[in-house]
Amino acid sequence: MQDTLNALLAKAPAELAALNSRAEFEAAKARYVGPNGEFTALMKQLGTVPKEQRPVMGKLINEAKGQLQAQLDATLQRIADAEIAAQLGPAVDPTLPSPDAGPGTYHPLTLVREEMCRILRKAGFTVVEGPEVETEYYCFDALNTPADHPARDAQDTFYFPETARFGNVSKKVENERYLLRTHTSSVQIRTMLKGQPPIRIVSPGRVYRRDTTDATHSANFHQLECLYVDKNVTVRDLKALLDYIFGSLLGKDTITRFRPHYFGYTEPSFEVDLSAKHLPKVNKEWIEIGGCGMVDPAVFEAVGYDPNVWSGYAFGMGLERLAMLVYGIDDIRYFYQNDVRFLRQFS
Ligand code: DAH
Repeated sequence: MQDTLNALLAKAPAELAALNSRAEFEAAKARYVGPNGEFTALMKQLGTVPKEQRPVMGKLINEAKGQLQAQLDATLQRIADAEIAAQLGPAVDPTLPSPDAGPGTYHPLTLVREEMCRILRKAGFTVVEGPEVETEYYCFDALNTPADHPARDAQDTFYFPETARFGNVSKKVENERYLLRTHTSSVQIRTMLKGQPPIRIVSPGRVYRRDTTDATHSANFHQLECLYVDKNVTVRDLKALLDYIFGSLLGKDTITRFRPHYFGYTEPSFEVDLSAKHLPKVNKEWIEIGGCGMVDPAVFEAVGYDPNVWSGYAFGMGLERLAMLVYGIDDIRYFYQNDVRFLRQFS
């Protein structure tokens, strides 16, 4: 019996060292100390050992059991460590010098957003931000966009399941749904509900639409929204501000034009085109850049402003489109690929 015990202890280290997975480990463990294991069998034999030898053999078996258990524990630890190491991949030496040493650069969208905000601050506008998770009320209803308007369709808008809860985004109507805002115009409503005119705000931020992705569309893009509410605001003020900001951003040779359009939240409404032939890669006479108009009385009523007292203009535009113009970029997807060769060109 002692020989069997010694043989078992002699072969165990090499056998355990060859195990490489938890499954192999569990099988080996069962072979040694499981109900039908070799070691368990030895323990059972103890009863057949003559009485006077039993204390000695019992001691030997107990020692062997301790050794075996320690070897099993160490093996399991080794396998677990190897699993984690495999998940982590090759070791990283954080002391190696970075190939991209330096403070980095700003993303072109950040640069254009900051430049627009700077220009608008000079014109008296305050930068405000609104939530990207919105509700139907702020994104559509209060903006005079009826329930059957195509923009509200689930094909165009990302809606959250009815069970979703966002404690930090206030609902206005009890049973309305949460959604990802399709435009920054929702910030107009949040701002007007918070205070009284005069109001002069600019709100840049991310917006989401279920657009198909091609060279000019992405399901997630950025807009910049402006709202001005005061007494006696006219279309001339709107046109003058747009001329001023585009002239400042893109150069004095930039010309804007309005084309009549429809938006539920403005009346009259226009689409804004730019002519900027002096810019790189611009080979069209007119480039559509955003929408605008005079705030619709229905919107003022929704936020409790008297439309007979207050007037205002609003506009919204895509930041990607602007950045493409400023830097001569011809594919919107460059903005999202985080290719350092692209990003390094902007500072
Ligand atoms: N929300 C519009 C869009 O996403 C842009 C827009 C049009 C904003 C007219 C406005 C506006 O503030 O008055 O296409």
